[in-house]
Amino acid sequence: MTSITDSFKELTILQPDDWHIHLRDDKALATTVPHAAGSFNRVICMPNLVPPVKTADDARAYRERILQYLQASNLSAERQAAFDPRMTLYLTDHTTAQDIEAAAKSGIVQAVKLYPAGATTNSADGVTDINACADVFEAMEKYNLPLLLHGEVTHDHVDIFDREKRFLDDVLVQIITNFPTLQIVMEHITTRDAADFVLAQGNQIAATITPQHLMFNRNHLLLGGIKPHFYCLPILKRATHQKALLEVATSGSPKFFLGTDSAPHTTDKKEAACGCAGCYSSATALPLYATAFDSVGKIDKLEGFTSRFGAQFYGLPVNENTVTLINIPMQVPVNYPYFDGSTLTPLMAGEMLPWSIKG
Ligand code: NCD
Ligand code: ZN
Repeated sequence: MTSITDSFKELTILQPDDWHIHLRDDKALATTVPHAAGSFNRVICMPNLVPPVKTADDARAYRERILQYLQASNLSAERQAAFDPRMTLYLTDHTTAQDIEAAAKSGIVQAVKLYPAGATTNSADGVTDINACADVFEAMEKYNLPLLLHGEVTHDHVDIFDREKRFLDDVLVQIITNFPTLQIVMEHITTRDAADFVLAQGNQIAATITPQHLMFNRNHLLLGGIKPHFYCLPILKRATHQKALLEVATSGSPKFFLGTDSAPHTTDKKEAACGCAGCYSSATALPLYATAFDSVGKIDKLEGFTSRFGAQFYGLPVNENTVTLINIPMQVPVNYPYFDGSTLTPLMAGEMLPWSIKG
C-alpha cells in the first residue's frame, strides 16, 4: 500500500519486519529491544549468544528475557503489542533431528541458523562438517523450518573477499542438490555472485540484504584510514558488488528482503587493535534503507523489500499497521548509551540522512 504524497515527500508503507537481527542478551536488551521494536513488528533473533541458543527450551527462555525488557521499556503500548521476536536455533555438530522436531513443534522457533565454525562473532560452536548435518537438514525439510546461512567458507587459505563466492560453489550447491525442498535464506549477501545465484534458484531460496551492503563498499572501509564502524562480516566488497545488490534489492524481486544484521558491539570493542565485526543499525534502519532506495530513484520499491517479501517467504501474513517515512533530514546519533556505562556507535554515526520516520 505504498502511498506517496507531496511529490515524494512522504511515504507510508506497511510496518517492516527485520528477518535478521542480533539483540544480544541480558542488559544489552535494554537498548537493543526498544530500538528494534521502534521500527519493526517481527524480528528474527540470531542465536549467537554466549552460550548459544541450541534448543527450543533455550529459545523460549531467551524470548522471555526479550519480552521482559520490552515491557520495561518506554515504548508505547501499541509498539509493545506489535513487537514479535521470533527465535532461531544455532546449529552445532551435536544438533539432532529430535532437536529440530522439538523446535518445529514449539511454535516459537522460526528457523535454524548455520554458522560455519569460526566464520564470525560467536561462531566457535558452529558446524565443522556440513556433511554430518544430513539428518538435521532432512528434519528441517520435513517440518518446514528454513535454514539461515552465514554463507562464508572459513579455510585459512581462502581470501576474505572470496569467502562468500566459495561458499556458493563449494557448499550451497551441494545443500540445494541434496535437499531440494529445504527453504534456505542466504543471509546478508554481499556480492553480485550471491545475488545472481539466488536469482537462478527456485522460490525456496531467498536472501537478506543489510543497509551497509547497499550503501557502502570496501573503499568506505579502507580508504583514507581504517573505519572500524564499517567492519562487518561478510566484509564490504567492491563497488560493483554494492551496485548489484542495490539492483536486486530495488528490482521488486520477492527473493530479496530486509535483514539489517544489526550487530551491536561496544564502541571500545569496535575501535580496537582487533576490532569486532558488526554494524549497529537497528534504530535508524528504515531511514538508511529509504536513503539507499532513493539513491537509485526506487523508493517506490521499498515496501516490497521491507514489509512484504520476507513475510511471503516465511508464509506469514503481512503486517496491518503502517509507518510513514518523510524526507526531512535526520542526524544519526553519535552514540547510544549501552550497558554498564559503555556506548554503541551506530552505522553513519553523527551523519545526516535525508529520510526520517514521521512522528
Ligand atoms: C555478527 C555479530 O556480531 O553477531 N557480526 C557481523 O559482522 N555481522 C555476526 C554475523 O552475523 O556474522
Ligand atoms: Zn548476523
